[in-house]
Amino acid sequence: MNMHATALAHPNIAFIKFWGLADEARRIPANNSLSMNIGCLATKTSVTFDPALKADVLTLNDELVSGDGLARVQRFMDRIRHMAEKDLYAHITSTNNFPIGAGLASSAAGFAALTLAGTVALGLSLSEKALSALARFGSGSACRSIPGGFVEWVVDPLTGETYAQSIAPADHWELVDCIAILNQDHKPVGSEMGMRSAASSPLQAARVADAKRRFSRCRTAILSRDFAALSQITELDSNLMHAVMMTSNPPLYYWRPGSLAIMQAVKAWQAEGLPVTFTLDAGPNVHLITTRASVDEVLHRLRQFPEVIDIRSGIPAGPARLLEQDSPSRTVQV
Ligand code: DP6
Repeated sequence: MNMHATALAHPNIAFIKFWGLADEARRIPANNSLSMNIGCLATKTSVTFDPALKADVLTLNDELVSGDGLARVQRFMDRIRHMAEKDLYAHITSTNNFPIGAGLASSAAGFAALTLAGTVALGLSLSEKALSALARFGSGSACRSIPGGFVEWVVDPLTGETYAQSIAPADHWELVDCIAILNQDHKPVGSEMGMRSAASSPLQAARVADAKRRFSRCRTAILSRDFAALSQITELDSNLMHAVMMTSNPPLYYWRPGSLAIMQAVKAWQAEGLPVTFTLDAGPNVHLITTRASVDEVLHRLRQFPEVIDIRSGIPAGPARLLEQDSPSRTVQV
């Protein structure tokens, strides 16, 4: 019998960032984070288990993957096999409509889609919470691409369980993420490696100690659609994470001169009254968050920067979803 499923997931942009693990083996984040799924970007992943295979085979954007990239996916597939108690390997085919490794969170969308397609293809039927908890073992931020809209990744203080859940649906607030792409290259130091050195920065403890306050202010700003409050906390949180990165050992400088030029321009635009704010992940690209009413103006202004080689814009998006499935009846409830 064919055991096959295809799923689609969106990457997400975090207003409150995840940077550093409190427990590496259990993948418990050092702080709670908060994000929005990005509609214009998507990853589609198909998983087909094949009894003839002796190992998983991974194709990413039509290229066969080997080495560390493959090993990371195989380790994650081992978890799914263990849960389903099945000893089968799969052909995994993933395609993105955006560049990989340039700070557009390809691992988040990729592992969210793989979690859904992989579990369904092996006959597992997991709740959204269980899917999200599982996805974090592929990539931390992937757990936030399982639920839809505006999403929080929390650690339950009583049980220690950690998973992401939606705090508001995609249509809650008409925000737009305009992504200024400055560089399409693969980043030299990925999040996984970078994050391991977070604790070597003397600023990380202070960033984490204040995270509860930022998280709660950001959550309230989203729920009450308060752009000014969101703006203030989003920039502070991004700057704090990059300050940690720059002061880690070895230091990580993800910003490019063009990134800083855009951030400074945003401050001037805000002074004119334009509702726009910025945040940057582990890469030089700048995510400008604005409202539907101001998106044309923001895009027009972004196009004036010679460093900007491409721009993507997307509205808040829904959850990871199944596109097709051809698998045994889903029996195992977790
Ligand atoms: C800067 O989720 O990519 O985008 O778990 O090692 O795959 P791994 O890390 P990842 O880290 C995300 C870091 C970030 C901030 C964020 O999205 O919260």
